[in-house]
Amino acid sequence: HGLRIRWNTGSGMSRRQKLLELRQTAPHVLPSLLLCNFGNLNREIEQLDTAGVQALHLDVMDGNFVPNITYGMPIVAGLRGLTEMPLDVHLMMEGPERYVEQFHDAGADVLTIHIEAVPDPTATLRRIRDLGMAAGLALNPDTPLDSITPFLDECDLALVMSVQAGFGGQKFNPVALQKLSELKDAKPEHVLLEVDGGVNVETISQCAEAGADLLVVGSAIFKQNDYTEAVSQLHSLLHRG
Ligand code: DX5
Ligand code: ZN
Repeated sequence: HGLRIRWNTGSGMSRRQKLLELRQTAPHVLPSLLLCNFGNLNREIEQLDTAGVQALHLDVMDGNFVPNITYGMPIVAGLRGLTEMPLDVHLMMEGPERYVEQFHDAGADVLTIHIEAVPDPTATLRRIRDLGMAAGLALNPDTPLDSITPFLDECDLALVMSVQAGFGGQKFNPVALQKLSELKDAKPEHVLLEVDGGVNVETISQCAEAGADLLVVGSAIFKQNDYTEAVSQLHSLLHRG
């Protein structure tokens, strides 16, 4: 898994083209910026880049949809200034339709909303795409898969939560594996599958085998002191089948 995508092509790859690049070279481990050292994001991004990650997963939490608060547009904009890598922004917020333009302006490449938190998924997903971003739809472990299947044509990505959104370091919920396998067969071909929560050396292979293209990892990277070691160990487990 040595291939490194050159994101800073200078020719200004479009935001959705970045996701196509990721699809072509999937599966990928995406570090989730929740448990990282926010006191030195520059160094964190440098270390993750050295570790060979190809995209970043940003966990935005509003204290309403989830009982936790993290960050918003200013941090996304700050990260945009640090890296050309795709910013995969996971909106864990009520009424995300209110902030689509602002996260676009902050530099999000992928914007993922929760089906449990949005009154009109189609309108919001279309708005995200109209602005040139890739549109993602997420569901929590207790939310049935058929809550998102009617909207998959409007999506570039489906985010299957393997923990209840809100915190890092939780235990992997295998219900995600069933959803991934069902989605792998049922989804429109272009939709990327992403899994998020409790993904580590014990669970990552099953996730890839169940069909995950993007595997979000928090504590299994940020709780280790050597990111390169952690990422390469996870990548070595990403064989398919
Ligand atoms: C939880 C977030 C996840 C979380 C993953 O609400 O969406 O991205 O940070 O962290 P781990 O890998 O520690 O479960
Ligand atoms: Zn997340």
